[in-house]
Amino acid sequence: MSFPRPAGVSRNRLTTGVLAAGVVLASLLASPAALADKTEDAIQYRQAVFQTLAWQFSPMGAMVKGKQDYDAEEFRTRAERLALLAQMPWEGFIAGSYDGDTDALSKIESDRAGFDKRAEALMTQSRALADAAASQDLDALRSQFVETAKTCKGCHQQYRAD
Ligand code: HEC
Repeated sequence: MSFPRPAGVSRNRLTTGVLAAGVVLASLLASPAALADKTEDAIQYRQAVFQTLAWQFSPMGAMVKGKQDYDAEEFRTRAERLALLAQMPWEGFIAGSYDGDTDALSKIESDRAGFDKRAEALMTQSRALADAAASQDLDALRSQFVETAKTCKGCHQQYRAD
């Protein structure tokens, strides 16, 4: 197979260049530094999602506890956001990302099925909370909020250092 090459560039120089790029790429992918970057990125990613999730969750808590006026529209918006965010942290729990600047326990790796079950519970309960928010029945919202909050706490107790 032959590819068009820029005028003035010999096949040899082109081949050398391509090979050199390949070597750089391979060493980037394999180097411990690149791996560390990857796990650090994953840790930062999941922590950022959890922070975003907590930012949405806490005003809902204030509303169901009567510490903040209930605003149906705001509650519904936050509950919808929460249900979406609840799907997102899990891809950040990659192999080798349980050392360093993280509170995640390595147990997540050894007991992934148990962890996934708790992640699933948050997704289910936060979806139910968003559905309840549409009905604007404050009592129903309150109890569904508590069910959702239990999934946070349950997982933290098992899989997060305090
Ligand atoms: C399936 C397990 C699981 C569920 C469910 C869960 N979390 Fe977490 N959460 C974790 C783990 C593990 C960490 C530690 C992440 C790390 O440090 O790498 C964490 C960390 C956090 C953090 C700290 C983030 C940071 O900056 O270090 C907050 C805030 C948080 N979670 C809020 C929540 C809230 C609110 C809920 C429920 C709405 C929730 N989490 C549900 C497992 C879970």
